[in-house]
Amino acid sequence: MIHAHITTWALTLILFFVALGLHKSGKARGLKVVQMILRLFYLLTIGTGIWILSSINIDMMYVIKSIVGIIVIAAIEMIIVGLVKGKSTAVYWILFIISLALVLYLGFIKLPLTF
Ligand code: HEM
Repeated sequence: MIHAHITTWALTLILFFVALGLHKSGKARGLKVVQMILRLFYLLTIGTGIWILSSINIDMMYVIKSIVGIIVIAAIEMIIVGLVKGKSTAVYWILFIISLALVLYLGFIKLPLTF
């Protein structure tokens, strides 16, 4: 379950960087495809997160961890949409970096479900 969650969010991050690469090299059609797969992985990441939540005694930290996880996904989506539309993505990059650091800290260090 935890492993399914780690696999889905890790693939989400990898696909995000693949999407950035495709955008940089001007491959609009490839980007569209990766963007669609990426959105499927948002759902899988959220789904596996809720799956974990449904099987544990939830306290506030798990809820905060989950909200920050959703913020990471939102930031990724906004960065890609911003790039495609040619808008500034600086704010979303800041959001992405802060929320990703926070979610990794909460997930791996604060909430010791596996490690
Ligand atoms: C890209 C987004 C996300 C990242 C990078 C991420 C990262 C992590 C990490 C590193 C862990 C710890 C795994 C372990 O203990 O071995 C974890 C666990 C967990 N995640 Fe996520 N997550 C994300 C999204 C979500 C979402 C959207 C939800 C809820 C809807 C969620 C809910 C949980 C829960 C409940 C746990 C178990 C508690 C824990 O051990 O931390 N996560 N996640």
